[in-house]
Amino acid sequence: MGFWSERSVLVTGGKGFFGSHVVDRIRRLRPRRLTVPDEKDWDLRRLERIEALLKHERPDVVIHMAAICGGIGANRAEPGRFFYDNIVMGTQLMDAACRFKVDKFVQIGTICSYPKFARIPFREGDLWNGYPEETNAPYGIAKKALLVQAQAYRAQYGFNAVFLMPINLYGPRDHFDLERSHVIPALILKCLTAVRERREVVECWGTGKATREFLYVEDAAWAVVRAAEVYNKPEPVNLGAGFEISIKDLAKLIGRLCGFKGRFRWDHSRPDGQPRRRLDTSRALMEFGFKAQTGLEEGLKKTIAWFKHRRKA
Ligand SMILES: NC(=O)c1ccc[n+]([C@@H]2O[C@H](COP(=O)([O-])OP(=O)(O)OC[C@H]3O[C@@H](n4cnc5c(N)ncnc54)[C@H](OP(=O)(O)O)[C@@H]3O)[C@@H](O)[C@H]2O)c1
Repeated sequence: MGFWSERSVLVTGGKGFFGSHVVDRIRRLRPRRLTVPDEKDWDLRRLERIEALLKHERPDVVIHMAAICGGIGANRAEPGRFFYDNIVMGTQLMDAACRFKVDKFVQIGTICSYPKFARIPFREGDLWNGYPEETNAPYGIAKKALLVQAQAYRAQYGFNAVFLMPINLYGPRDHFDLERSHVIPALILKCLTAVRERREVVECWGTGKATREFLYVEDAAWAVVRAAEVYNKPEPVNLGAGFEISIKDLAKLIGRLCGFKGRFRWDHSRPDGQPRRRLDTSRALMEFGFKAQTGLEEGLKKTIAWFKHRRKA
């Protein structure tokens, strides 16, 4: 409590999926001031808007969560925007925060920055051992450049910037439109629609053989808040749950939880994305005591319940 009650906090992207959970958690800790700018009024691609925002709010802590992100389809459709918007927002904001003497800057990275064939489990030390999977490389490299900036600014200016890399997140308030959604909301939407329309088959991208790890968004929000309080080192930190599931098994699990009794048809002409993903989560545990609390099935049930409720409303 003490940490937050003395500080003015700015959370960019705080009205988005992940950001809104971080904002909820910080709000409960009663910060001295909490600002959640949105893109409409504060486009972070424009330096003069960033400077006006920092001049106006004078935050002690900045948690930079604003980004352009999405699933494989969205990354493939707009690679230029995924690179430019993410790098330009982050690099300008971090530089301005340093000049405005912000005490703590938390940059949210991504595991899309890891090499395509990184050793399993992904260890932070392996981040530079190869090129990322091609479909999300522009996004992953833009974020990774911000890690270099954070480390360089710490070394030269003593700027306290830290870099966190969450694995694929899921949970309430996720995006459920098929155009941009990640795999979990896409599968939930497809299965519930198939049940409602009494369809026997759900079409899915790829072979289903790729593996992924998923972290429930409220657990991830806890980790961000805790790292903002106590983690002050240049090394990047993975945020994950430490397990791996194939997309095929995930589809079966989501199908069961949605009451879908048909079958999945896999479209092999569509990309799988990165072949495997599983994180080594020991650094987060050691540095700020983070361990995921929500099991996959429990988290999926909460997510499906939230989505059904929202759809009804
Ligand atoms: N979701 C995941 O699985 C996942 C995994 C790892 C890392 N992350 C990272 O977590 C962060 C949040 O992701 P998310 O899934 O919550 O995304 P999201 O729901 O799309 O939220 C992104 C936010 O960024 C804001 N934004 C975008 N462009 C902006 C601009 N030019 N100026 C100001 N604000 C802008 C959006 O504001 P408006 O709503 O006002 O447009 C939105 O609130 C991102 O940094 C992402 O890279 C997410």
